Amino acid sequence: QKERVDAQGKFWQVSGSAMGRVVGISEADDEELQRRRAQDSALSGRVLNVQTAPGSTGQGADSGSGTGGIGDAKAAAVSEFAQQKTIKQQREFLPVFSVRNDLMQVIRDHQVVIVVGETGSGKTTQLTQYLCEAGYANGGRMIGCTQPRRVAATSVAARVATEMGVKLGQEVGYSIRFEDRTDASTKIKYMTDGVLLRESLVDPDLSQYGAIVMDEAHERSLNTDVLLGILKRVVAGRRDLKLIITSATMNADKFSAFFGEVPCFFIPGRTFPVDIMFSKGPVEDYVETAVRQILDIHLGSPPGDILVFMTGQDDVETTCEVVLERLAQLEDPAPLNVLPIYSQLPEERQRLVFEGDGSVRKCIVATNIAETSLTVDGIVYVIDCGFYKLKTYDPRHGMDMLLMYPISQANANQRAGRAGRTQPGTCYRLYTENAYRHEMLESTVPEIQRTNLSNAVLLLKSLGVRDLLEFDFLDPPPQANILSSMYQLWTLGALDNLGELTPVGRAMSGFPLDPTLSKMLITSNELACTTEIATVVSMLSVPPVLMRPRGREEEADTAHERFSVPESDHLTLLYVFRLYESNRFSDAWCDKNFINPRSMRNAREVRDQLLDLMRKARMDMRSCGNDFDLVRKAICSAYFYHAAKMKSVEEYVNMRTGKPCRLERSSGIFRLGSPPDYIVYHELVMTSREYMRGVTVVEPSWLATLGPMFFKVVTMENRLRSNYRDHLEAESMERELERAREAARIRQEAEQ
Ligand code: CDP
Ligand code: MG
Repeated sequence: QKERVDAQGKFWQVSGSAMGRVVGISEADDEELQRRRAQDSALSGRVLNVQTAPGSTGQGADSGSGTGGIGDAKAAAVSEFAQQKTIKQQREFLPVFSVRNDLMQVIRDHQVVIVVGETGSGKTTQLTQYLCEAGYANGGRMIGCTQPRRVAATSVAARVATEMGVKLGQEVGYSIRFEDRTDASTKIKYMTDGVLLRESLVDPDLSQYGAIVMDEAHERSLNTDVLLGILKRVVAGRRDLKLIITSATMNADKFSAFFGEVPCFFIPGRTFPVDIMFSKGPVEDYVETAVRQILDIHLGSPPGDILVFMTGQDDVETTCEVVLERLAQLEDPAPLNVLPIYSQLPEERQRLVFEGDGSVRKCIVATNIAETSLTVDGIVYVIDCGFYKLKTYDPRHGMDMLLMYPISQANANQRAGRAGRTQPGTCYRLYTENAYRHEMLESTVPEIQRTNLSNAVLLLKSLGVRDLLEFDFLDPPPQANILSSMYQLWTLGALDNLGELTPVGRAMSGFPLDPTLSKMLITSNELACTTEIATVVSMLSVPPVLMRPRGREEEADTAHERFSVPESDHLTLLYVFRLYESNRFSDAWCDKNFINPRSMRNAREVRDQLLDLMRKARMDMRSCGNDFDLVRKAICSAYFYHAAKMKSVEEYVNMRTGKPCRLERSSGIFRLGSPPDYIVYHELVMTSREYMRGVTVVEPSWLATLGPMFFKVVTMENRLRSNYRDHLEAESMERELERAREAARIRQEAEQ
């Protein structure tokens, strides 16, 4: 191990082996690069595990090592190449192109193939085109490609449309929740894995597709995992369907085994060495440290773009702001193009990270969406804060929480790898080598093992999977999560006492929404306030509409106050939408009122689609006018899990779990004369404490009638607050779980 002195003194320590073969060479000369590349292509481009056709594909190994073309390109020339060449040349330059024939042969010979390759090798953009050109989209079928992230689905579809010279939404399209840009001529369809899952509800054989590429399977998103199990059943029944699972370098064997030892095809790597620099001591403020490192690189290191990994939208934005501030304090610094990217960022701003002619250094500050699903060329420096936000489910409390965790070693390596795509690079890790080795898990816990499963459970039940504990999962979720999710569905009336889907459950599964929100829609039909609840649900399904731009918070608050409904943040949303409607959906009106026009347009589209789905489900479209109690009742019916009772002025406790939760300062509730006794909330947000977001005041009697399994009315004789009002008590979690177990037992007996 060696140490490196940089502008700030001895801060970094270079690791000798943290990243295996990519690591530890600081100045690789051309010869070294060529030697390594030769080694790489000898190792890869060949098929492992082939059982039926080892001969033909074995040969492919050697003939497929056609990476030679870049072998003699000087590292620096590589990125220039990508910028100047035509699209055709760029396509042919991608590693996957050199093994195209072999790969397509393996796909012809096998129904399921695992394709492994470094990020940027062309899996996402090329495979679909190869499949299409090979005729798998003939006969009116499509090539489907699933992505765990919306951003990836839309941006990649746009790129492929450009490559094919067609208009996005025609031959090449995408479909994400509430946004379908495909038409009858679509041959290649990118979509989120959730969309394909829902399609399987309507068309269990997925008969529209001639081939499906499940991309980024290594991410192991919840939907990917459920889809894996479903596709396994589909391919068994449809011999004419090709399934390609792509994965970054980890987990390939596991996927292969899951589908019965199917072949793994390795695309030859083309990575350059990356120096790994660990922090020598613990980093206290990773934003500050990252900012300093960005400036340090910008002012003192050779050309090359910088990619910074932060945890979420907030610290991405803060980092960008602070970098710009500091730059402004310098005298005539070289220009730096500072660009944030995260999933909620509007599309046109996301696209900026792919633009530029290389003359101005880019500094891209990203969440972990830049880890594998987005490829930006020209990155030479990576700064990795070492954390990410993960949604985790606490079955005891029955809720999802978005919390910050240290990343895993696999993530760390993936992040570092982004620096070596087009030339040798450097990765600065804002954590110590010791932390990397001893505090980080080897790989991330798959989402299915850590999140709320109610959506997945409802879907699988609708697909006719009776016993979830028996379903073929790549990694089965913890039984407690399944039971607790089933229990939640039972309380919403979606499952009966035997754990079978009820008519309400079936109706709920028709909406691409969380079960709570589907339930709200269904109750609204009974309470005759469908159009209002459709609005509320749409507004909850888009990025936040009320904006509080930094530096103008007070102005924004004053503007928002005019339409805020004190007893319900949900009603505020409804009111905002009504005003938007009466102002003829005007962007100018939005801007004037500190409302995000994009979110509003989005909400309007979502609402149209929901209304459509509701009509199809034969619901009555009725407005309750201004009878807002009905609306609040429908809202209440969805959120038993999120009912809270006042403890002191700002503090509430969740009625089932007794866990404290606070009102957000921005909530309209603060303008009520006195804090209400009972409320329900949309979600908990964790900052320094748990805050409730989206709060509505409810009557205790509503909770008792709408959720009798949870709440009972108790009289107040021995309570201090002696106004003789009825009070509610939540039943204990123990009893709930006991009941869930009992239901499971009864069901088992019934089946025997
Ligand atoms: O999926 P994989 O990581 O293997 O690679 P890819 O996403 O198919 O990317 C291959 C190349 O396409 C990248 O190196 C980019 O140059 C280009 N690309 C792009 O220009 N714009 C996108 N939205 C996606 C990819
Ligand atoms: Mg990809």
